[in-house]
Amino acid sequence: MPPSLYAKYKDYFPIGAAVNSKTLHSEQELLKKHFNSITAENEMKPILLQPQEGIFTFEKSDEMFAFAEANNKMVRGHTLVWHNQTPDWFFENEDGTQVSREKLIERMETHITTVVSRYKGRVYAWDVVNEVISDHEGEYLRKSKWLDILGEDFISIAFEIAHKADPEASLFYNDYNESDPEKREKIYRLVKSLKDKGVPIHGVGLQAHWNIYGPTIDDIRAAIERYSSLGLQLQLTELDVSVFEHGDKRTDLTEPTEELLELQEKRYDEFFKLLREYRDVITGVTFWGVSDRYTWLSDFPVRGRKNWPFVFDVDQNPKESFWKLVNF
Ligand code: XIL
Repeated sequence: MPPSLYAKYKDYFPIGAAVNSKTLHSEQELLKKHFNSITAENEMKPILLQPQEGIFTFEKSDEMFAFAEANNKMVRGHTLVWHNQTPDWFFENEDGTQVSREKLIERMETHITTVVSRYKGRVYAWDVVNEVISDHEGEYLRKSKWLDILGEDFISIAFEIAHKADPEASLFYNDYNESDPEKREKIYRLVKSLKDKGVPIHGVGLQAHWNIYGPTIDDIRAAIERYSSLGLQLQLTELDVSVFEHGDKRTDLTEPTEELLELQEKRYDEFFKLLREYRDVITGVTFWGVSDRYTWLSDFPVRGRKNWPFVFDVDQNPKESFWKLVNF
């Protein structure tokens, strides 16, 4: 019998999984046994919680909280302010023209306050602002409607509002390619500027959408060192280890080869060795799914291509990678 993953990590950090309204049921047994934290993969994003102005749809996220609370799982909240999966009405007047600064701040405040207050005291960490750093060389912030209308301020305003709504929750800035040296410095610059201004920010979320070839352990270590030098918590928020290298567009693989699985196992082993070293600053590690049965990577970046990024296989059995995580 495999031991419980989260129990094995009880002196290190909570082990989380992203769930959706299907996997909450189909992966229930694995969730109960191996994970002590859950995150909504989509159900708590603005477009699902407030598809139309003033119409909040909490049924699916309430169902996740009910599961979490019945089974003693912690909940990570994802996400409040993002350029994706946010309905257009936020940024538009009824006649289709762009909203004023005042109106957009008011809408942001209503959204964050309504959502965060509803789950006050029940979310240990919130991804308040997601992915605002640019991936382009020489460009600091990503172009978005938030940035267009509010300027850089939108970031600190979001944190202030969230903090008011739930003063006990840890508030995170969350991003991907977080271990890339160039992007790392931009994320560092942003988070440092927020801290220096006294903005209530408590952590950096490293999405950790990694693969079997990259990033290197040295780059991940450098990112952990750099972000934690700001005195903030770090959480891996969306860990998966794709079997395809960044940029690989192959679609012919119907099963992962032994060679790929061995490489993946080696990666999982070295990742978790590193994470255990940093247990003082790492306060959570969440996988962006549960087992290889379902992963968003089977549609992204190549539509319809299967991927096998987790430590449980398509039959929900532990892979060799799993055994690497628990045997230390
Ligand atoms: C992804 C979900 O997994 C998909 O189901 C959805 O279609 C798109 O969003 N960064 C994030 C997550 O912060 O919210 C994204 O989740 C993956 C990348």
